[in-house]
Amino acid sequence: MALILSGRKFARVVKASLRERVAALQGPPPGLTVVMVGDDPASQVYVGAKEKACKRVGFNSTVLKLPVETTEAEILDLIDQLNADDSVHGVLVQLPLPDHISDNRVASAVLPEKDVDGFHPVNVGRLWRGEDGLFPCTPSGIVSLFHHHDISLTGKNALIVGRSNIVGKPMAALLLRENCTVTVAHSRTVDLKEQCREADILIAAVGIPEMIKKDWVKPGAVVVDVGMNRKSDGKLVGDVAYDEVLDVCSAITPVPGGVGPLTIAFLLENTFKARLNLKPPAGN
Ligand code: GUN
Repeated sequence: MALILSGRKFARVVKASLRERVAALQGPPPGLTVVMVGDDPASQVYVGAKEKACKRVGFNSTVLKLPVETTEAEILDLIDQLNADDSVHGVLVQLPLPDHISDNRVASAVLPEKDVDGFHPVNVGRLWRGEDGLFPCTPSGIVSLFHHHDISLTGKNALIVGRSNIVGKPMAALLLRENCTVTVAHSRTVDLKEQCREADILIAAVGIPEMIKKDWVKPGAVVVDVGMNRKSDGKLVGDVAYDEVLDVCSAITPVPGGVGPLTIAFLLENTFKARLNLKPPAGN
């Protein structure tokens, strides 16, 4: 029987540890500001969950909701103000943004030290160079989940299905840092099924419901499902056909309760890290 890698349980451990570290802090608590543009229903749910999680661990949390017609210049101006505000340690601009706003220009406007999403080019560079920095929350959470369960990574063949800037690419960088041999597959990959069957560590982040079937998985592989898809009958499923893959893998994350809660827990970790980098006032 495969080990169920419960992100929900591990996220509780991370948050309990954060609560203690916040209580022991000298000075102001960590402060996160989330900016949301428009009223995308999924974003509203995610942003609400982020706000609630912040409050639970003793962070200050502010959500700024802007109308969909907000211009890019107005958002960049707001980010400048947040960059200059010493009570704000982390700034997160919720994606997706409306089409008239460039994700990349917005990501580059947030100070790297406040970039709790890890999307700023400086943090991306630090990640690939093996330096310290703020790195994307979902892949960071996945690597910590592996460590929490003593899953060995060195020398393992890791296959990531999906090449997004939020998950696939940073996941590749983090697994390289863990000494995996990393392959990134995507929609144009030839023989995806065969590639998947070679993987000791399989990370599915494609957004296609239950695409990864039992005969795509190497016996004993560790499977992480980043997918979150709503089927026509309303059921929430991942990118992996969970019930059947359970029979062949050695460990697997469920959906829901797998990777989702980790993303929020590691957003909190990044915000705490950003707060620790706070320089003491001159003279102290
Ligand atoms: N929308 C979906 N996932 C994310 C994320 O990790 N960060 C931001 N900023 N927006 C998202």
